[in-house]
Amino acid sequence: MSYYKLLPLVKKTGSQLSPKEFQKRINIVFHDYEADHYDKLHCDMKESLQEQINLLVDDLFISKIETLNNLCLLDIGAGTGLSTQMLLNTKLGFQIENITLLDTSINMLKYAEEKAKKWQKKYSIINSDISSLSDSFDIIMICSVLHHIPELDKFLSQVDSLLKPGGILIHLQDPNGDYLEDKIYINRIEQYNKELNSLSKKKTIKQIIPKNWKHFINRLIGRKTYIDLVNNQLLKEKVIKRRMSADEIWSVTDIRVESKLNKEEIGISFKFLKQHFRNYKLISHRSYCFFGFLKSTLTVEYVQKENNLIKKKELNGRNISCIWVKK
Ligand SMILES: C[S@@+](CC[C@H](N)C(=O)[O-])C[C@H]1O[C@@H](n2cnc3c(N)ncnc32)[C@H](O)[C@@H]1O
Repeated sequence: MSYYKLLPLVKKTGSQLSPKEFQKRINIVFHDYEADHYDKLHCDMKESLQEQINLLVDDLFISKIETLNNLCLLDIGAGTGLSTQMLLNTKLGFQIENITLLDTSINMLKYAEEKAKKWQKKYSIINSDISSLSDSFDIIMICSVLHHIPELDKFLSQVDSLLKPGGILIHLQDPNGDYLEDKIYINRIEQYNKELNSLSKKKTIKQIIPKNWKHFINRLIGRKTYIDLVNNQLLKEKVIKRRMSADEIWSVTDIRVESKLNKEEIGISFKFLKQHFRNYKLISHRSYCFFGFLKSTLTVEYVQKENNLIKKKELNGRNISCIWVKK
């Protein structure tokens, strides 16, 4: 992806930085502020994420790939440590001895370290991006991160250089690039929206909104509250001269997520990954969020439908998740 697409926004905000520096700094400042709210705002995500990580690890064990003990894990974009926590909850967790938590946001890592202290494993915290690493690892976890990466090609090559032969790569929780325009997927979303509309005519809003929808709505509202703080910081650092809207900030940070301002190069394409990981064995390719939302926000009937689609290993949901082994 070319940073060039950010040029109109760079100009609009009066920034003197190059589009690359602009993206890098906004991404860090945004996540530094998001860190204080992250676990609370994403608690609805936990259930679906844990299920997906469990499924990927089960797929690995079913494939009879030999996993050794004393594994070294690298969590790229570790955030508050949620993704590592969930991997440790799986049967692969027992085999992990050493954990490296890497993130460009120092504030995210502050929360991750609080969790890491309780894991009873050796851990190190690195506040940087992938280019600063030179060790090699047995497992690399990339959860909810690929959609923040502008130069995906370069990033994946760096990931590859850090994974040992026979090493395991897990990535998930990113928009599913090959299927966002898929007719069946779009029909499902329309069907679910119709269902919600018809329910809303019969019931009060409190009855139709599943409990966890509140978390989803709070997440959107919550994310907006710190946009002001992000703007204040960016102005103070002279990254920008004029304030940015929430949508503008997200178009920079969530650079591969569909939005009003972001319509090109959206999502992570499996076709692209497969080309990139030619020297990897694909253990499993999965999808979820078949109705456009996480399971925890769906109505009871649709949770059942989502479960059936996950069970059938359909690939056309909103999110992509994969596990690979390097040959
Ligand atoms: C949506 S959070 C995901 C956190 C965690 N993996 C999880 O699943 O809960 C994305 C994280 O990636 C980090 N991040 C974004 N770009 C990064 C980069 N280029 N290198 C390392 N970390 C990055 C952000 O600071 C943030 O903590």
